[in-house]
Amino acid sequence: MTITSSPAAPLVVVVGSTGNQGGSVIQALAESDKPYRIRGLTRNVGQPAAQNLASQGVEMVNVPLTVENMDAVKAAFKGGDIVFFVTNFWEHRIKSREIEEGKMMVDAAKAASVNLLVWSALEPIVEISKGKYKHVDHFDAKGDITAYARLSGVPLLIVQAGSYSSNHMRAPGLIPTKQPDGSYVFGLPVGPDTVLPVIDTAHDYGLFVRKGIESPEYGAGTEVLASSEDISVREMAVQLGQITGKKITYKQVSDEEFLAATGEPPRIALELLEMLKFYEEFGCTLLFFNQC
Ligand SMILES: NC(=O)c1ccc[n+]([C@@H]2O[C@H](COP(=O)([O-])OP(=O)(O)OC[C@H]3O[C@@H](n4cnc5c(N)ncnc54)[C@H](OP(=O)(O)O)[C@@H]3O)[C@@H](O)[C@H]2O)c1
Repeated sequence: MTITSSPAAPLVVVVGSTGNQGGSVIQALAESDKPYRIRGLTRNVGQPAAQNLASQGVEMVNVPLTVENMDAVKAAFKGGDIVFFVTNFWEHRIKSREIEEGKMMVDAAKAASVNLLVWSALEPIVEISKGKYKHVDHFDAKGDITAYARLSGVPLLIVQAGSYSSNHMRAPGLIPTKQPDGSYVFGLPVGPDTVLPVIDTAHDYGLFVRKGIESPEYGAGTEVLASSEDISVREMAVQLGQITGKKITYKQVSDEEFLAATGEPPRIALELLEMLKFYEEFGCTLLFFNQC
């Protein structure tokens, strides 16, 4: 089934359409055996990624998703049967801004009386860890948005994204480092049996959203953790070695080594450290297709 313009098909509004998650959602819906109209939101309809989506039949709409722009966001959601939204912490790294923009999108979805709001949340780490890990803003901000969305009464499907596998190919501190003898060390500040919910986001994330939308046993009131594989960091090193043909071994590094290796300012490095410690201590707290 391709994307349709038939008014009989549900209209799905996709925030972050040119990004990892939104792009994956569009791909999965386009490959569904059910027809969908899709409206993709972007700040620049002229960019190649947006033009590519338009050529596949996605209605591309130019709208900056900022609180000053609330009326335009409401207009962009209007008519949508389903809205998928994600907030983008890493673009500005400001917790309060992420929360404001997330709440704004909840309000816009409510104003549009959508049948289903699909939200890419993350766990409230500060709450689950009872204040032990209090610097993981990109999780906690999303937790605040979730609480707000639940109170709003809008029909809510939560599809959390696991940890991107691509992190381990590009992010300093998370990638294997080459040793003088040509081998590689995959070093994180957690024990080798720590399990991460790792996802091939571009391919798999949208499949979870599609399943959540299309399966009657899921839908509103459901919370899902989208993970391609829950895998220990030790096993990740083994698989990375098999795929690349390189010798890669896992080594638990000290917190200080990790903080330095990220290359990030101290506050952000601490955020990443606490996120990994949270996974080590609490595991993947949400099981697949839990009821919320
Ligand atoms: N890395 C991980 O392991 C991981 C795991 C789970 C969750 N996450 C979360 O994933 C989120 C990022 O999602 P992603 O990876 O899909 O992002 P991404 O690939 O960087 O794409 C961001 C998308 O958001 C759009 N966007 C950003 N700011 C916007 C604004 N002000 N107005 C309109 N559109 C805007 C961009 O659109 P245009 O550029 O076209 O305007 C783009 O489509 C982050 O909040 C992060 O915490 C990450």
